[in-house]
Amino acid sequence: MEPSAGDAAFMVAAVERLKNLADNPDASPLIEGVEIHEHSARIGHERVIVAGGTPDITVSDFFTVSPEPVYDAVIGNPPYIRYQDFSGTSRTIAAEAALRAGVRLSRLASSWAAFVIHSALFLKPGGRLGLVLPAELMSVNYAAPVRQFLFDNFADIQLVLFDEQVFPDAEADVVLLLADGYGQGPTGEASVRLTKNAESLASLSDEAVSWTPPTASGKWTGSLAGATALEALQALSAQDAFVGLQTWGETTLGIVTGSNKYFALSPQRVIQVGLSHSDTLPLSPPGSAHLRGLALTTQQLQRLGQEGKSTRLFYPKQPLSPAAAAYIQAGQDTGVDTAYKCRVRKVWYQVPLIPPADLLLTCMNADTPRLTTNEAKAHHLNSVHGVYLAEDHRELGCELLPLASVNSVTLLHAEIVGRAYGGGVLKLEPREADVWLTPSPDLVAANAHALRGVKDQVGTLLAAGQLLDAVQVVDDVLFHSSDGVALRYLDAVREARERMAHRRSARGASGR
Ligand SMILES: C[S@@+](CC[C@H](N)C(=O)[O-])C[C@H]1O[C@@H](n2cnc3c(N)ncnc32)[C@H](O)[C@@H]1O
Repeated sequence: MEPSAGDAAFMVAAVERLKNLADNPDASPLIEGVEIHEHSARIGHERVIVAGGTPDITVSDFFTVSPEPVYDAVIGNPPYIRYQDFSGTSRTIAAEAALRAGVRLSRLASSWAAFVIHSALFLKPGGRLGLVLPAELMSVNYAAPVRQFLFDNFADIQLVLFDEQVFPDAEADVVLLLADGYGQGPTGEASVRLTKNAESLASLSDEAVSWTPPTASGKWTGSLAGATALEALQALSAQDAFVGLQTWGETTLGIVTGSNKYFALSPQRVIQVGLSHSDTLPLSPPGSAHLRGLALTTQQLQRLGQEGKSTRLFYPKQPLSPAAAAYIQAGQDTGVDTAYKCRVRKVWYQVPLIPPADLLLTCMNADTPRLTTNEAKAHHLNSVHGVYLAEDHRELGCELLPLASVNSVTLLHAEIVGRAYGGGVLKLEPREADVWLTPSPDLVAANAHALRGVKDQVGTLLAAGQLLDAVQVVDDVLFHSSDGVALRYLDAVREARERMAHRRSARGASGR
């Protein structure tokens, strides 16, 4: 059965396959389909006959066809209609169809999501679903209930991912979903295979990585890393060599001022408006370009200030000095007090302070998220996250975690837990940072001496923009001792990171 039969390419292929399996050239397998456009349905019908099959194509909106659980297999490539264009009655009907299977789809869901659910309802117990779907099945939030549904209802889930774009003209990358054993779930794992392109599908290897998503509905993008690299991550976290950043401490959002232009001041500006030093606090200036090294020191902050960067946060002492009162008046005169975030405060010019963090974590990254020790004890805005280390780990973490994090495993895992944003930027939210794999306190402690030995060298490489050379140095320190697990897998980990970072920036460049 083909739920969106179109010109019947899938139905024709199915006829050929069934004839082969029957080992009888005279067999005329019955293939059913649904297609909303009558013209396509007619062409499809003819093609199935020419191929030697018996077609039965219903011209209808698939979502108005009542599911009968009678089919061995449902195959196809459902239409991909973005939610903006998927509206009115057709969306309501599709959402209701999904709801009949107990799946509540958000209004943001594209048409394919409801197709997956409704298609499954046509399967006999034990039946199979084979669909070509947009790769966003793996990642978008609105597909979470679809991912959950698949894991809940099928006994076996296989995914085939492509390195190259399969349909260069199509808007979306695709994945193959092969789900078997309908009604015999749940399953906790999927098998994932990567292949280069449509041609290489013919020689798809039987070797798949068995992969368990952290939660059934969670993102499946981790599977893109490929078998060996995922095994390495699993092995390293199983032996506690790598742990989520949360083990080290809490990551939180920075200060929201309501107007960085007003509240973040350069030292020159502080003098110009006559504020005293004590009316301001040290600040990591907006942006994160200055946080690409291992530490933000007091000297660096001073240098940034001399360069005119906004390294002071307006936070006036009480009682107000005449200069502070004048600056506040100037803010009111220019309407800063009416900006939403200012307006909702008890005292509009008193930004809610967050204590200086132990480490700063960049959240928007062209290459990879960076941890930097906040030696300058600067406050930080919401362009970076603050990491507050647990008491037990503070000393070691401040000294060595930024350095130890410059390794291949941590870089790869950032690609997995982070999100690709416009322009190919990798964004990391605090809750993603919590699970981001960093070297464990034990691993760092065990290698502390050697890490100290390479700290200057890595700092110099980072300052020169040679991230991957710096990674190589840290890898050499960390992985010769960690049971050889990572060492064995290191090439695969590097390759996976390279592939994922490359895909991210290539997509960014093409505007997707
Ligand atoms: C990506 S194409 C599938 C092509 C098909 N596999 C073939 O071999 O030609 C999607 C098809 O779904 C059809 N379609 C779109 N919305 C539909 C709906 N609600 N019910 C049934 N068919 C629909 C479109 O007319 C189009 O032919």
